[in-house]
Amino acid sequence: MNFELSEEHLMVQKAARDFAQTELLPGVIERDEDQIFPLEQIRKLGEMGFMGMMVDPKYGGAGMDTVSYVLVMEELSKIDASTSVAVSVNNSLVCWGLETYGNEEQKMKYLVPLASGKVHGAFLLSEPEAGSDATSQRTTAEDKGDYYLLNGTKNWITCGNTADTYLVIAQTHPDKKHKGINAFIVEKSWPGVVVGKKEQKMGIRASDTHSIMFQDVKVPKANRIGDDGFGFTFAMKTLAGGRIGIASQALGIASGAYELAVKYSKERKAFGTEIKNHQAIQFKLADMATEIEAARLLCLKAAWLKDQHLDYALASSMAKLFASTTAMNVTTEAVQVHGGYGYVKEYHVERLMRDAKITQIYEGTSEVQKIVISREVLKG
Ligand code: CAA
Repeated sequence: MNFELSEEHLMVQKAARDFAQTELLPGVIERDEDQIFPLEQIRKLGEMGFMGMMVDPKYGGAGMDTVSYVLVMEELSKIDASTSVAVSVNNSLVCWGLETYGNEEQKMKYLVPLASGKVHGAFLLSEPEAGSDATSQRTTAEDKGDYYLLNGTKNWITCGNTADTYLVIAQTHPDKKHKGINAFIVEKSWPGVVVGKKEQKMGIRASDTHSIMFQDVKVPKANRIGDDGFGFTFAMKTLAGGRIGIASQALGIASGAYELAVKYSKERKAFGTEIKNHQAIQFKLADMATEIEAARLLCLKAAWLKDQHLDYALASSMAKLFASTTAMNVTTEAVQVHGGYGYVKEYHVERLMRDAKITQIYEGTSEVQKIVISREVLKG
């Protein structure tokens, strides 16, 4: 077993770290405060190959492995989780879903611009009454011969307004339950696609989260992904990889807060010495460092399994469950280490604490991850 990163991995990690410092850190507090989507930064990440990291270069991607993706997600998320969620959705839900299950025509038309970062995408599964209970899709895609007629509402859609391309999950044969669900490629510009209200969120406030309505949207048959009824399997398979991305985001939020706490503990003095010399602080830092290392290993193991073409659904749920809990624990403790300064914006840790919470909710709540994990461990 080799825990060492390769030269290439270290280079990619450094590029992401430098980008986060020079391009994401400036203005991160203001973007959070005013809910400004980092479009310019996303375009630059596209130019660096980070929006289609794992996509084959013949479809405009960078052809990197999932381990590189984890490293990049961690570095970006240390500074700006609002940017990194757009990176994660585009890479592991939209691009991966299209590359793995799309046909050649769909890949040339939609994957190439998405993977090269010219545009970015969104994944539309959640509904007002179908969050964790994803089989209960109310959005309908009625088969009208040479097209599908799409009607319904999707909720909490990351990049709902800024994305050009949507992957939409909808029910075609309600009598068949989840086996009647399909996945479609839908262009935001099509008639009948209505972008609803922007959500006012607690964290990742610069990310662009909307509800999306479909009102008699005509979707060509050619835009269905896979066979009729493949949509739910498509969503589950895609989310298994997506959870590696969000686990790595949670890891980054935790390690970003930890690094700030270590730095602060060396600068701040109390009771006649730097606070790093107090055991109360030392024990907190020790717990934080240990949890972060364990989360990192789980993320890298899930990524490694995926790169080896081995089953990674269990590992990705474990990574997401543990890393998101770690993100909450570590950011809360980082605020505590900072004392009163931790509660104000310019020290960054209060934002990281707010951002951490969403990692326990999206791409499957912690409870959903426990369903996936417990079913696997109780199998047979
Ligand atoms: N791969 C392939 N198939 C899978 C699968 C997987 N990983 N997981 C489940 N399935 C299949 C099952 O085998 C089953 O098929 P059969 O009936 O043919 O056997 C079918 O799907 C239904 O599975 P379940 O009976 O397990 O379904 P369930 O209703 O009990 O739900 C669940 C399982 C794990 C809770 C699932 O509904 C789930 O993952 N829910 C959470 C949804 C989610 O993550 N949403 C995130 C929205 S996207 C997002 O957040 C993006 C963003 O903006 C950041």
